[in-house]
Amino acid sequence: MKLLAIANQKGGVGKTTTAVNLATCLAEKGKKVLLIDLDPQGNATSALGVSETQGNSIYEPLIGYAQLKDKIVTTRFDRLSIIPSDIDLAGAEIELARLDDHLGRLRAVLGSLGHNTPFDYLLLDCPPSLGILMTNALAAAHQLLIPLQCEYFALEGLSKIVQLVDQIRAINRVLAIGGIIMTMYDARTNLSQQVVNEVRKHFKNLVYQTIIPRTVRLGEAPSFGKPIIEYEPHGIGATAYRALAEEFVQRESGKIKFLDSV
Ligand SMILES: Nc1ncnc2c1ncn2[C@@H]1O[C@H](COP(=O)(O)OP(=O)(O)O)[C@@H](O)[C@H]1O
Ligand SMILES: [Mg+2]
Repeated sequence: MKLLAIANQKGGVGKTTTAVNLATCLAEKGKKVLLIDLDPQGNATSALGVSETQGNSIYEPLIGYAQLKDKIVTTRFDRLSIIPSDIDLAGAEIELARLDDHLGRLRAVLGSLGHNTPFDYLLLDCPPSLGILMTNALAAAHQLLIPLQCEYFALEGLSKIVQLVDQIRAINRVLAIGGIIMTMYDARTNLSQQVVNEVRKHFKNLVYQTIIPRTVRLGEAPSFGKPIIEYEPHGIGATAYRALAEEFVQRESGKIKFLDSV
């Protein structure tokens, strides 16, 4: 089982869109996937058309009131399960801060799934802050995937995440930056291409070859509670996220080399 944190402290950069669509595309490819919605806003939950019910997030397991396995729900997609978000998660930052080992709670809880977990991948959709939930996600993860919007200030703030990763390595030595995913690429502007060039110059092949285009359909799909492969299975958004899943698997298998240092 591999644990992936999808994080960037900036909001609106495509974290949730990437988490939901990478999860569904990996499941479509035959992988067994658990998506965990760590954002109190619950966008990943609603984007999959799953309803939020109070008491059904990872909050209770995190503070020791319930078992993780009791919060996992199957979805209408084969091989894809989710732990939804709920409003309780909004209090988790404060609650967790009071507990011992508050940065390692998620890691301990996910460890409870044990070695014979049915999942190949766990995807953690992180909230947009460098708070305790995101830190917990990094302390638990094997890989961090960073969605980056193709816009002028894209690189701003990236050094903060990289710094945080370095700090977290003190408690989670295996944590690697698995890649940077360029999102919302607009082919009609030079700016998008300039940003991609700039990011590639700095981060080399840490940047995914697959680039996610800005499309109206990708923006609309969550309001119908559908991932893109269901909402518009043959459009450019679905094609891009399928390619991303394929590239992810290739990188995983070592067929595409990536540098784990920046
Ligand atoms: N490639 C894209 N094309 C068009 N709209 C997108 C794309 N990716 C995300 N969006 C939209 O942009 C907004 C922010 O994306 P989201 O994935 O929720 O970001 P985050 O989780 O980082 O806050 C959402 O309304 C989403 O539907
Ligand atoms: Mg989000």
